[in-house]
Amino acid sequence: MDAASIHHYLLFFLFSLSLPFASAINFLFNSFSAVSNLTLVDDARVEDSVLRLTNDSNYYSIGRAFYPERLRLAAGPGQALSSFSTSFVFSILPEIDSSPGFGLAFVLCNSTSPPGALSGQYFGVFSNATRQSPAPLLVVEFDAGRNPEFNDPDGNHVGVDLNFVESAVTRTAGFYRANGSSTEPEFVPLDMRSGRNIRGWIDFYGPLFQINVTIAPAQEPRPRWPLISYTDPVIANYVSPEMYVGFSASKVKWVEAQRVLAWSLSDTGAAARELNTSNLPVFLPPSPPSSSSTSAGLIAGVASACLAIAVLCVLGLYNHCRRRRKTRIRKEEEEEEWESKYWPRRFNYEDLWSATNGFCKERLLGFGGFGKVYRGVLPASISRGANNAGGSAVREEEMEEVAVKHGVSFEEERENMKCMTDPDQTNGAEVGPARSGSSAATSFFCAYI
Ligand SMILES: *[C@@H]1O[C@H](CO)[C@@H](O)[C@H](O)[C@H]1NC(C)=O
Ligand SMILES: *[C@@H]1O[C@H](CO)[C@@H](O)[C@H](O)[C@H]1NC(C)=O
Ligand SMILES: *[C@@H]1O[C@H](CO)[C@@H](O)[C@H](O)[C@H]1NC(C)=O
Ligand SMILES: *[C@@H]1O[C@H](CO)[C@@H](O)[C@H](O)[C@H]1NC(C)=O
Ligand SMILES: *[C@@H]1O[C@H](CO)[C@@H](O)[C@H](O)[C@H]1NC(C)=O
Ligand SMILES: *[C@@H]1O[C@H](CO)[C@@H](O)[C@H](O)[C@H]1NC(C)=O
Ligand SMILES: *[C@@H]1O[C@H](CO)[C@@H](O)[C@H](O)[C@H]1NC(C)=O
Repeated sequence: MDAASIHHYLLFFLFSLSLPFASAINFLFNSFSAVSNLTLVDDARVEDSVLRLTNDSNYYSIGRAFYPERLRLAAGPGQALSSFSTSFVFSILPEIDSSPGFGLAFVLCNSTSPPGALSGQYFGVFSNATRQSPAPLLVVEFDAGRNPEFNDPDGNHVGVDLNFVESAVTRTAGFYRANGSSTEPEFVPLDMRSGRNIRGWIDFYGPLFQINVTIAPAQEPRPRWPLISYTDPVIANYVSPEMYVGFSASKVKWVEAQRVLAWSLSDTGAAARELNTSNLPVFLPPSPPSSSSTSAGLIAGVASACLAIAVLCVLGLYNHCRRRRKTRIRKEEEEEEWESKYWPRRFNYEDLWSATNGFCKERLLGFGGFGKVYRGVLPASISRGANNAGGSAVREEEMEEVAVKHGVSFEEERENMKCMTDPDQTNGAEVGPARSGSSAATSFFCAYI
């Protein structure tokens, strides 16, 4: 080896030593208006100063946003893991408060488009694989919906997911704070579906395979205790030496705005830089109209005792009528356009119970956005009766198949189960972009229970 090649070798050696340090990431975005280098996938976009992930008008919308440079988590495959710290402010605002929610996910992935990623309850990153397998996809979910089939504890929880939609660990959303002189902190629940700005902190400590997740209302200081502290060497199977870092969200039928308003991250060993949350925009649901006529009525009542009684009577009557009208309107709104196109109808719980053989396992077709989907057979007398009531579509089959979605607000609606044909949306259509499409038989029915 001559002097020149030794020189080259030394240079190369020094260069490779310095690589991990060269790629240190340490950024702070208090707003996204001046950030033009994010990798935006599908429907993700920067709207004014905030990152918006899904597009309301796309049924199967998916949106992902990643920092352009990959995070270096190890010097090479099988090498010791390094650490990072990140902090961000997000807001989740469903269009309809009572709709099943989706939420958003903080994502570490070796690609900006994980294979088989589905929309809806899959956050736009997970596939519908029924078994967990090792691959570089590590997610912290801020889940605003409950999917019992994924063992979700409730419709408002945080979880750590290892290349699988079913979390390795979950906790009801909230934070811990000191409780007087008690040594045990007090748990304060936090509604992530309110639109309010929520700050999240994720601390990843590679040497211990540890992830801590903490959330709190954006204006509050960081809680001393994390909501989740998850430590497991198995984490090593779900990271790669370099990973994209960012956010992902998705939807199906229901509209929900998932926003990221600020974000900082550091892999230098120091904590992520402190976000300035004092001037962030707030996206709350529109407030209900105030009833100024009522207070006007009360003032009139004070003016004259006699008149007051009369005014209150009139107001009472008016409110009564208004409430009745409102309920009527709401009822009408619940019926969707496509329902009336295809003979709207209602089956009672007993009929669906026997049609699906008591919602037995053998009749289970799969899982949809709102719960389980069953195949059932309705006696012709029942189906035809309901059909005639709907006043359309003459049918020839003696028997009909029924797909019954079984889940969420089961107790509430068991008396009044809504059934409908929807040739475009047979089972399976709820779970992803791959519509089952064309040959959909009209003999499928969906019932939201
Ligand atoms: C991306 O843009 C931000 C803000 O303009 C800047 O701070 C950061 O260094 C850029 N990152 C890369 C990898 O270009
Ligand atoms: C949402 O998607 C629709 C249809 O694909 C498109 O026309 C519209 O521009 C998108 N909206 C935004 C804000 O990107
Ligand atoms: C990501 O990791 C998977 C599983 O190890 C691998 O099959 C795939 O090629 C990787 N993708 C990229 C873009 O590196
Ligand atoms: C706070 O501490 C008191 C006792 O010091 C206890 O009775 C109470 O249940 C605690 N509250 C919560 C929410 O943990
Ligand atoms: C995670 O939380 C635990 C418990 O509070 C704490 O002991 C640990 O130091 C934390 N780890 C990181 C990386 O912040
Ligand atoms: C946060 O931002 C506001 C205005 O956007 C500014 O007045 C304030 O000084 C900032 N606070 C910190 C700690 O930088
Ligand atoms: C998983 O999704 C694919 C479309 O991506 C679909 O073809 C397949 O039927 C689904 N499998 C299950 C078990 O739901």
